[in-house]
Amino acid sequence: MPVKIFLNEDEIPRQWYNIAADMPNPMQPPLHPGTMQPVGPQDLAPVFPMNLIEQEVSQERWIDIPDEVLDKYLIWRPSPLYRAVHLEKFLGCPVKIYYKNEGVSPAGSHKPNTAIPQAYYNKVFGIKRIATETGAGQWGSALAFACNQFGLEAKVYMVRVSYEQKPYRRLMMNTWGATCIPSPSTETEAGRKILSMDPNSPGSLGIAISEAVEDAVTSEAMGRPLTRYSLGSVLNHVLLHQTVIGLEAQKQLAKVGDYPDIVIGCAGGGSNFAGCAFPFVRDKIAGKKIDIIAVEPTSCPTMTKGRFAYDFGDTVQMTPLLPMHTLGHTFVPEPIHAGGLRYHGMAPLVSQLVMDGIIEARAVPQLETFNAGVTWARSEGFISAPETNHALAALIQEAHKAKEEGKEKTILVNWSGHGLVDLAAYDAFFQGKLSDYDLPQSAIDEALKAIEAFPKPKLG
Ligand SMILES: Cc1ncc(COP(=O)(O)O)c(C=O)c1O
Repeated sequence: MPVKIFLNEDEIPRQWYNIAADMPNPMQPPLHPGTMQPVGPQDLAPVFPMNLIEQEVSQERWIDIPDEVLDKYLIWRPSPLYRAVHLEKFLGCPVKIYYKNEGVSPAGSHKPNTAIPQAYYNKVFGIKRIATETGAGQWGSALAFACNQFGLEAKVYMVRVSYEQKPYRRLMMNTWGATCIPSPSTETEAGRKILSMDPNSPGSLGIAISEAVEDAVTSEAMGRPLTRYSLGSVLNHVLLHQTVIGLEAQKQLAKVGDYPDIVIGCAGGGSNFAGCAFPFVRDKIAGKKIDIIAVEPTSCPTMTKGRFAYDFGDTVQMTPLLPMHTLGHTFVPEPIHAGGLRYHGMAPLVSQLVMDGIIEARAVPQLETFNAGVTWARSEGFISAPETNHALAALIQEAHKAKEEGKEKTILVNWSGHGLVDLAAYDAFFQGKLSDYDLPQSAIDEALKAIEAFPKPKLG
């Protein structure tokens, strides 16, 4: 029985999979906040290059991966699929566990899977500089790496609480030549507005997105090199690029003649989860029996307690209204260490599939996630990112469930990143400084008041 299942370089997928072609209920259109009508490609042109906008709205099932992107993917892809033999032995449950190791990329997570194509498409469209936000710093470091590969400038607005907790991610960005500043900052209108209301704001992904979008759309007026904005999750084209994970996993599982009963991923904006899961969702829509589980923190329970509604993707209301699970765009989550899961919204494609009952959403508390991460490190050896630990907590839950039910199960989990730059969070956990936090319904109801007047998506 192999512990690592590899693909040869010439077996790397040559196309991404676009789930829009197979959705039983199509995603409802993003709305222009001024007119409340569906946004057209031209509305998005100041923010994204047109070649990425075309991918965002594409209904084609398969989209070719450009050779220039494949060349860069080969730096770390195909990523290995592991059989978690040591964890299996430790748990003693009737489960076979496979995990896709996305921690082998230069930035240490799945994020370069989309950073590389995004930088590439911006470059061929003539863009010189990219502005973005980052939570934990994983996305910012991935984009810094990708921009460096394609000779673009990168400016990263990093959520302040993570900027302070995670200096090493900033240094990674600097090493790849990017500029990284804490958000809210005094460099944008959006940042100054937030700081005038709360000078000690810990920041949020929603605020950092507002700053980065403003940076991009004002670049020409401000005399900066031609800039577009880039998002590390949530949007359709981001999820599309990440499907290289699940497509590789399917080929790797086929090599050992296996197929999962359960697919698990953690979900912040939904991209690593979707990237691993969507090729399997395709099979499920076609009739396969398979459980697909997206895991989020109880402190930021977007899918499990939020509302499926039209809402802004950012705090200062610069983005279109997206049909998604949301805790309200004004929501500022508790500073849990899994910075990448502290987003008020969820990818519209994932949200629609949750509404359709194809994907199960589950929330897990912080301490359980760190316990799972330590169990993993003490069996499989690798130290996981705090975000990834959410998937591992659900994996362990499923293994125990299989034992209780006396059923044999094959589980695939997306190991979205390593935690070697997150050891301060492990230190806090070992010192007993972390706690669980269940976001109370009253806080959610309060934050959702901000979207009461917006149009409502169809719920069916
Ligand atoms: C290692 C890791 N996993 C998961 C996530 C969550 O993001 P997404 O839901 O887009 O995959 C992040 C975000 O920064 C991350 O760094």
